[in-house]
Amino acid sequence: MKITVLGATGQTGQYLVNQALQQGHTVTAIVRNPGKIAVHHDNLKVVEADIFSADSLKTHFKGQDVIMSCLGFQYSFFSGVTGYSLSMSSVIGAMREARVNKIITMTSWYTEPASGVQSPYLIRFLLLPMIRSVLTNMHEMEQVLHKTEDINWTVVRPPGLKNISATAQEFLTNEGYFVADSSGKPAGGSVGKGDVARFMLSLLNSNAWVKKGVAILTK
Ligand SMILES: NC(=O)c1ccc[n+]([C@@H]2O[C@H](COP(=O)([O-])OP(=O)(O)OC[C@H]3O[C@@H](n4cnc5c(N)ncnc54)[C@H](OP(=O)(O)O)[C@@H]3O)[C@@H](O)[C@H]2O)c1
Repeated sequence: MKITVLGATGQTGQYLVNQALQQGHTVTAIVRNPGKIAVHHDNLKVVEADIFSADSLKTHFKGQDVIMSCLGFQYSFFSGVTGYSLSMSSVIGAMREARVNKIITMTSWYTEPASGVQSPYLIRFLLLPMIRSVLTNMHEMEQVLHKTEDINWTVVRPPGLKNISATAQEFLTNEGYFVADSSGKPAGGSVGKGDVARFMLSLLNSNAWVKKGVAILTK
């Protein structure tokens, strides 16, 4: 397939690009700093474009089968995060103009504000308030996608991430904002960024989570 990757210079994005190339896909990495891409491959094209401009993106989207995004924006206590929703609006505009109709993107567990109420104490009272500005804007981006009827989107929601390569572990999935344990509360654990990339790529030939948000965890 012809895959365009946004956030290709990030940790998850790099796993995604490498795995996609290993699987024989043709990859266009859209970046703001081409010098950060370490991998060279005949099937990899690296281009510089502005993720907040549909005009800048649309040329590179033409002829692509799918857009995959691992973009990430830093949290701030002082100002709201806007990168997720603003870039997604531009991406959708560019997809429409370029006639690309599939996007797979990642956010996180607990993007919906009430979904963290059963999470462990430290997550609920320390982590979630700290990263709330990120989660809020991720949720706003998810709402943008929910309103997008003409595009096949999937939101992949991992819990805490570790910067490790893909494993062969089985995935647990849930259409929602976390994966529950047997008591119905959020299951503990984190996921490797390589495994998030592996899950996202597994959706290329599947319609299982189209127009849905799926929380993931590895067994
Ligand atoms: N850490 C966790 O435990 C956790 C848990 C769940 C979900 N997540 C989410 O998972 C996603 C991926 O995480 P990660 O650690 O792989 O991310 P990361 O390494 O921080 O990478 C972020 C990517 O976004 C790009 N980016 C940021 N601002 C940009 C801009 N203005 N224009 C163009 N590109 C921009 C970065 O480009 P540059 O390289 O040029 O900066 C980079 O490629 C993030 O959204 C993160 O919030 C994280």
